[in-house]
Amino acid sequence: MKTFNFKTGQELQGHIQELSVGIEFTDDLSPLHNKVKIGNMVAPNSIAILPMEGCDSNVDGSPSELVYRRYLRFSEGGAGLIWGEANAVVEEGKANPNQMQLKSENLDTFIDLVSKTKRAGMEKNGYEPVIILQLTHSGRYSRPYGHKAQPLVPQRDPLLDGRSGVVSDDQVVSDEYLDSLIPAYVHSALLAKEAGFDGVDIKACHRYLLSELLASHTRSGKYGGSFENRSRLLLTIIEEVRKAVGDDFIIASRFNIFDAHPYPYGFGCDKEDMWKFDQREPEMLVRKMIAKGVDLLSNAAGNPYYIYPQVTRPFDVSSLGIPEPEEDQLVSIERLFSFSETVQRIAGDIPVVGNGYSWLRQFIPNIGAANLKKGSVKFMGLGRCSFAYPDAPRDILLKGEMDPKKVCISCSKCTQIMRDHGTTGCVIRDSKLYAPLAKQFTLERIEREGK
Ligand SMILES: Cc1cc2nc3c(=O)[nH]c(=O)nc-3n(C[C@H](O)[C@H](O)[C@H](O)COP(=O)(O)O)c2cc1C
Ligand code: SF4
Repeated sequence: MKTFNFKTGQELQGHIQELSVGIEFTDDLSPLHNKVKIGNMVAPNSIAILPMEGCDSNVDGSPSELVYRRYLRFSEGGAGLIWGEANAVVEEGKANPNQMQLKSENLDTFIDLVSKTKRAGMEKNGYEPVIILQLTHSGRYSRPYGHKAQPLVPQRDPLLDGRSGVVSDDQVVSDEYLDSLIPAYVHSALLAKEAGFDGVDIKACHRYLLSELLASHTRSGKYGGSFENRSRLLLTIIEEVRKAVGDDFIIASRFNIFDAHPYPYGFGCDKEDMWKFDQREPEMLVRKMIAKGVDLLSNAAGNPYYIYPQVTRPFDVSSLGIPEPEEDQLVSIERLFSFSETVQRIAGDIPVVGNGYSWLRQFIPNIGAANLKKGSVKFMGLGRCSFAYPDAPRDILLKGEMDPKKVCISCSKCTQIMRDHGTTGCVIRDSKLYAPLAKQFTLERIEREGK
């Protein structure tokens, strides 16, 4: 692992060559201006905001002032696609008490949020972003009320149970419970359509419920064992949502292509060596999702709650209790890029949103444009960068550069706030708001947990 200290593109390219990683660099940023067709819609450029939850909705799931602030900043920032954050389809599947939850009772607040977000983009940039909403059930990482974890898991996992509060087989969900989620996803998707979103994501990443289910090798019954069974719920939900929403609505899926977790508990991993990607099942999954009607994809990888968060999100400084990774961040980034390339190759014209860019600071556009140019992806997706520097897409598109003083420094402080059960944002670049909050949530955690 190397801390980022590259002042010029040449220095970064030198390190890329030294490591022999397959990351390309270009000074031609024109591909970032490409319009992208998603289903029956067209995104005005090739820059996407990845889903970034702030854990800051009102307790009834409706958008708070901080949620409005985040989405207006994203939209004014000029990205062509805003991939909205995790939104729980059922109360017990919320990852925190302040997770977003669109319901019939608060539909009007979401209608307002979406229309204001779209208007903000139009007024500032002359175009509206495409906006989709991520539908989720947090499964093992559910904490709907207070500070106590209330995990609901597809199976026991000796590596994860102790860390996630799973102590009894009673926390393993039944097939009937999983069946009951199908109408819940359909209901949420119909509400999202009514609210004015352009689509929904059936989230199956980061080891939340639908992601962990893809690795349910040890589960019995219709959702465990064979690949057909393990992918059944995700594919059925996509199919049922497509039937309900019709053709004029985007169905996306952000899915884990590789868990970096050992057999029989991980997906996309070699049975003997969990660090080796076994592409066979992920490739089948992509083909099946497309056959069921998906028209936008994003690969994710790893488990942000476990001890290898660099697989999901390469960083310079880790959050509390996370060991420093041995591998260089560029190796982690190359892995994420190669996953996007694998998915895009199979998906053909169906766009894939790439990820793994924020660590690259002001060189994000050079590397994103190179990936677009070689066709390994159709969108460059920005996660932490969009918390730190929501105007980055505008600066890239209008000025042809990013300001090094505004970039995300991959310090993991926004993750630490989440782990401390707080409402999160960029502690470094949005410090007036988030630095005091970070301090407050740390003190509250120490008081609560004694460490
Ligand atoms: C504070 C925080 C909140 C996040 N929220 C979500 C989320 O709601 N849904 C999701 O799929 N990923 C979420 N992610 C993961 C990001 O979308 C992204 O995959 C990750 O940060 C890597 O991209 P980056 O290097 O550009 O940050 C979150 C990450 C962070 C740090
Ligand atoms: S707190 Fe800000 S600078 Fe640090 S990782 Fe998060 S977004 Fe990046």
